[in-house]
Amino acid sequence: MTHAAFDDPGYEFTNDWFDQNIVVWDTLVPRFSPKRFLEIGSFEGRSACYLIEKFGKDQAIEIHCVDTWEGGVEHENFAMSEVERRFDKNVQFALGKVGNPGVVVKKHKKLSYLALAELIAVERRPTFDMLYVDGSHQAPDVLTDAVMGFHLVRPGGLMVFDDYIWSMEEMGSQDLLNMPKSAIDAFVNVFTRKAIVVRNAPVYQLYVTKVGG
Ligand SMILES: C[S@@+](CC[C@H](N)C(=O)[O-])C[C@H]1O[C@@H](n2cnc3c(N)ncnc32)[C@H](O)[C@@H]1O
Repeated sequence: MTHAAFDDPGYEFTNDWFDQNIVVWDTLVPRFSPKRFLEIGSFEGRSACYLIEKFGKDQAIEIHCVDTWEGGVEHENFAMSEVERRFDKNVQFALGKVGNPGVVVKKHKKLSYLALAELIAVERRPTFDMLYVDGSHQAPDVLTDAVMGFHLVRPGGLMVFDDYIWSMEEMGSQDLLNMPKSAIDAFVNVFTRKAIVVRNAPVYQLYVTKVGG
């Protein structure tokens, strides 16, 4: 079901993939009191606009949006320069809607491992309250995003993996390397003493919290 906030005619979206998550995000994400967000995979900005509207009304927040705006292997039929134009327009519209100069959106137009390497080098410490992994859905890329992104999330912070059980192929003939699940499972298994799966959440996304804090 499309979320009401996005009915606003100032937005220009061609999909509502993100909206199924809102019922969970609305209650789960505020528990982490997030002010600094790192998003890998922004597309038209739907998740970023949700964060602006949800968390940017009465506090200063910073959202870092990482995307090549070239699409993943599943986006062959998308005109990605138009997608990027809509991202810029939608984010500007959300910023205008909340009207809070304390809301800052930083765009990193590059491959995620390069953006993450730069952020790790610049930040030097785990400073993000929330990481949203929704970029490439190829397992080697997801594992790279998870491991590198982990080092940017503060202890006690939240990591959200989208499309946990998504696959390129039909059910029953999935290629494990073409889906996020095998990478997310590998990350969760190896980091089991450093990152804990949040219980009682639905499985289309997987929610993990960093130990400590
Ligand atoms: C599923 S979409 C993101 C959806 C977005 N979070 C939303 O709410 O609508 C995935 C995005 O990841 C980007 N992407 C794919 N592989 C990437 C990579 N290796 N590095 C950076 N971005 C990538 C694509 O360009 C695409 O825009």
